[in-house]
Amino acid sequence: MGADLQKNTTKGKISAFCEKKEALKLMGGKKQTKKQHDSNKLTARERLAILFDEGTFQEVQLFVQHRSSLFDLDKKEIPSDGVITGFGKVNGRTVFAAAQDFTSSGGSLGEMHAKKIWKVMDMAIAAQKPFIALNDSGGARIQEGVPALDGYGGIFYRNTIGSGYIPQITAIMGPTAGGAVYSPALADWVFMVKGSSYMYITGPDVIKAIIGEEVTHDELGGAVAHATKSGVCHFVTENDTDCIEKIKNLLSYLPDSCHSLLPLVDCTDSAERSCPELDDVIPDKAARTYDMKKIIKAVADNGEVFELHELWAQNMIVALIHIMGKPVGVIANNSRFTAGALDVNASDKASRFIRFCDAFNIPLLTFADVPGYMPGTNQEWNGIIRHGAKLLHAYAEATVPKITVVTRKDYGGAYIGMCSKQLGADYVMAWPTAEIAVMGAEGACNIIYRSEIAAAADPEAKRAELIAAYEDKFNNPYFAASLGIIEEIIAPRDTRKRIVTLLDALKDKKEIRLPKKHNNIPL
Ligand code: HXC
Repeated sequence: MGADLQKNTTKGKISAFCEKKEALKLMGGKKQTKKQHDSNKLTARERLAILFDEGTFQEVQLFVQHRSSLFDLDKKEIPSDGVITGFGKVNGRTVFAAAQDFTSSGGSLGEMHAKKIWKVMDMAIAAQKPFIALNDSGGARIQEGVPALDGYGGIFYRNTIGSGYIPQITAIMGPTAGGAVYSPALADWVFMVKGSSYMYITGPDVIKAIIGEEVTHDELGGAVAHATKSGVCHFVTENDTDCIEKIKNLLSYLPDSCHSLLPLVDCTDSAERSCPELDDVIPDKAARTYDMKKIIKAVADNGEVFELHELWAQNMIVALIHIMGKPVGVIANNSRFTAGALDVNASDKASRFIRFCDAFNIPLLTFADVPGYMPGTNQEWNGIIRHGAKLLHAYAEATVPKITVVTRKDYGGAYIGMCSKQLGADYVMAWPTAEIAVMGAEGACNIIYRSEIAAAADPEAKRAELIAAYEDKFNNPYFAASLGIIEEIIAPRDTRKRIVTLLDALKDKKEIRLPKKHNNIPL
C-alpha cells in the first residue's frame, strides 16, 4: 500500500496522531532546549516531571495553536502555543498546573496561550484543587497585541475568583515582565529561582531611558531583591529542582480548597512533651534579644518549621508547623530585628499570612514579644496607621482557632495587634516573664510622674523608685490575669502541651459573622 493510502487507514491515522503528538511535545526543539539548559533552566516539561508523581501528569489542550496572522505570525509555528497545561498528582493529591515554555517563542503569552491557562484554572476552581503556575515568559506576545492583554486580564480575573478558595502558587523561573507580574502578585505564594528569574514592571533599559537610573536585571527584580526589599517573593530557591521541591513541601501543609479538610501527616511527636529548654530562652535583661525561632521549633512536631517570607520584614516571623500532625500557622515577633516592633512591612507580612490561614482553615498561633509600633516620620509617612490597621482587621476577621502566647513584652497598641483577647483570641496565655502594659515602665513614668520627678531632691533616685513601682504593678502578667484579660500564666516548658490541648479543644470551633458582601480591609 502507498504511503498516502496508508494515511487513510485507522492505523495510519493513529500513527500520524502519535507522530504529531511527539513532535509537539518537543516544544521549541533541541536548539532552544540547549539554550534553556545553558541558562541553568529546565524546560517546562522537565519541570512538570519533577512536580508531578511519575506517570500521573495528564496534559490538556496539547494541540492548541495560535490563530494570529499579524506581523507574519501565521508563518510561525509555536508548539502548544508556548505553554503546557494539565493536572496530575503531587504526593498523591490532585493539583492543576500551567508551565510556560521559554523554548517556544520565549513562552510569550498570546490569546490561545492564555486560553489554555484559563482552562486549567477553571478546572482547578471547579474541582477545588490547588493551582500552580510555573512562569518563564517574555510577557505579552508583542505581535498579537490586545488579545494578549485580554488574555492576561482573564488570568487575573481567575486568580481573584480563586483567591481564598483554592491555594495558588506561582514559581518565577525565568523572565516575568510588565503586567505579567500581576498574576504572581495575585497568587498566594511566589517562589523565585536565584540567578535565573526576575520580575519587574519595567526593565533596566526603559528605566535608564526614562529616569536615567542604571540597574541590572538582577538588582532590579531578581529573587533576592524581591525577597529582601519588595516582599513580592516569599521563597528564594537555588535552582529549578529546589524550587519545585519547596513548592511540594509547602503544598503538604495546605488543604485542597477552603472546603477541604486540612492534610494530616503521621505524628511521631508526643502530646505530653515538655520543653524544658524554653525555661531558659528569655534573657534576664529586658533589653537583650533572643531567638524566637527556638520557641517555634520547640513547640512544633519534631522541631520542624516551614518558614515563609523569611528574608523580608524579619521583625515578624510567619511559619507553618504541624501540631499533632495538623497544620498550624505561626505569627511571632522577632526581637532580633528592630526589637520586634511592628512596622509597615511586618504588619503587611503578618496580615496577609493571617488571612491566608483563615481562608484555608489553618489555626493561628501567635507568640507576642512586641515593644510597640515603630515610631518616626518614615513609618508615619509610609502609613503605619493604614498598614497597622490591616493587622487588627486580619486578626479580628479570622474565625479559625486563635491562640496567643505572650513571652515577654506586649505593649500598647501592638499588644492588641498581636491578637489580644478583644481581637478574638480564643485563649491567651502568658509566660511569667510577660510584661503586659500600655508602655514600658521608663517611658510611662517619665510621662505620668514628670513633675514629681522634677520636684524631687534627687530626681534620678525618684525616677528609679517610680519605675520600680510601675514595673511591679504592670510589667508582669498578673494584672492582666487578675482581670481575665489573659486566661492563664504557664511555665514556658508547658507551652507545647497546652497548645496541643487547646487546639484539640477548639478543633470544631465555629464563628458565624454578620451576613454582608465582604469586609473592607484597609489596604
Ligand atoms: C513575542 C517574544 C517575546 C514577546 C520573547 N519573545 N519575548 N515574542 N513577544 N514578548 C521571543 C523572541 O522573539 C525569541 O523568538 C524568543 O522569544 C526568545 O527570546 P530572546 O530575546 O532570544 O531571548 P533572551 O535573549 O533570553 O531574552 C529574553 C527577554 C527578551 C529578556 C525576555 O526576549 C525580551 O526582552 N522580551 C520582551 C520582554 C517584554 O518587554 N515583555 C513585556 C511585553 S508587555 P525566536 O523566534 O527568535 O525564538 C507585557 C504587558 C503585559 O507583557 C500586560 C498585562 C496586563
